[in-house]
Amino acid sequence: MDRIIIRGGNRLIGEVTISGAKNAALPMMAATLLTEGCSTFRNIPELRDIVTFKTLIEHLGGKVEQEGHTLRIESGTVKMPEAPYELVKTMRASILVLGPLVARMKRARVSLPGGCAIGARPINLHLMGLERMGAKVRIEHGYVDMTAGRLKGADICFDTPTVTGTENLMMAAALAEGVTVLENAAKEPEVVELAMVLNKMGARIDGMGTDTIRIDGVEELRPIVHTVMPDRIEAGTFMIASAMTRGNLLIRNCPLEDLDALVVKLKEAGVEVTPEGDGVRVVGSGQIRSVDIKTSPYPGFPTDLQAQMAAMMSMANGLTVITETVFENRFMHVSELRRMGAKIKIDGRTAIIKGNGRLSGAPVMATDLRASASLVLAGLAADGKTEVSRVYHLDRGYERIEKKLAAVGADIKRVKDAPKARQV
Ligand code: UD1
Repeated sequence: MDRIIIRGGNRLIGEVTISGAKNAALPMMAATLLTEGCSTFRNIPELRDIVTFKTLIEHLGGKVEQEGHTLRIESGTVKMPEAPYELVKTMRASILVLGPLVARMKRARVSLPGGCAIGARPINLHLMGLERMGAKVRIEHGYVDMTAGRLKGADICFDTPTVTGTENLMMAAALAEGVTVLENAAKEPEVVELAMVLNKMGARIDGMGTDTIRIDGVEELRPIVHTVMPDRIEAGTFMIASAMTRGNLLIRNCPLEDLDALVVKLKEAGVEVTPEGDGVRVVGSGQIRSVDIKTSPYPGFPTDLQAQMAAMMSMANGLTVITETVFENRFMHVSELRRMGAKIKIDGRTAIIKGNGRLSGAPVMATDLRASASLVLAGLAADGKTEVSRVYHLDRGYERIEKKLAAVGADIKRVKDAPKARQV
């Protein structure tokens, strides 16, 4: 298993370019299941989750070719509408095949994802919506088994906005008979991007980016060529990294318009954030000011940047209150940050951080994707050596993060553990 070793204290100075968005690329790959023919996607990030989704499409019977950051997917050949436990357990976003499979193949068998490190994460809203559209749902042996005729348009209201739930139903509704209206839909930029991709394929969707999305079903969709938008969470992570290391980073290909909630908080904390060309320059000055944070669905503060902000606020002087409203158990990074000297108390969905201006390097363990990023950031800003183990979490969502950080001055390297000697 790989580990990342960081010697903290270097300022990050220079330019870094943001890769394509994982959470936009995955639903697009799923959308190909609605088409016959070969779609091409450019600016696909090189990540473990993309490889897992590629394996899933191949398992279903599709053909995927990858050349650097370009993926060609032919899903017309899909025969077996089943997503097995082995793939779904490593990546919850596998659930995104459910809507497209049932819409096009009239049948889907997808392993239930189960809980994960950050919460229970049920899929009841995905199932409720597909049932409203006429699918018959059975849950057996840990699998969701769905059958349907041609899905029918329906009015569906989500109790709470769900990103992959909105995406799943938008894809299913694109091929349904009649009009589907999704109320209290997710407004995340990746949902908007998927709607644009589906419209390029021939779907008729409007209202994306608002609470109410209307989908007028069509008979068929066609393959497309599309370039994936930049990853706002990767961009936000580098912005926080620059702030924490008193750095001066030009973050290129940065979707700044999607990061308003972060920019407001960084400025409040005393960080300079200035748009420059296709990106943003982030300059961290002396002392970080503590600012309170409350996560919420877009356009609120993203839960996927909460752990990184917790690391930053551990370096501030003063008290910070972080409230996590999206997931019920997203403070797994806290006990590891404490090992680095952070003073953090958890009370339910709230973390209270008493920043003391510094962190100290320590061996720590990554527990989920964004928690891993927060530990790397803490390591960059801490005194001495930090060793982050279980970095496979990081590889799910950050393309070559240690290389990008080393190129702007971080003392960071990846080491592979020697294989254990066989016991005889
Ligand atoms: C997506 C993102 C993830 C991000 C999250 C919230 C992808 C691949 N992943 O995850 O990075 O952290 O949005 O921005 O895009 N819920 C239910 N029932 C459901 C579905 C969701 O109760 O059927 C709840 C969840 O438990 C959670 C909340 O709704 O509390 C939001 O979750 P959701 O938006 O669905 O997250 P994901 O789509 O899984």
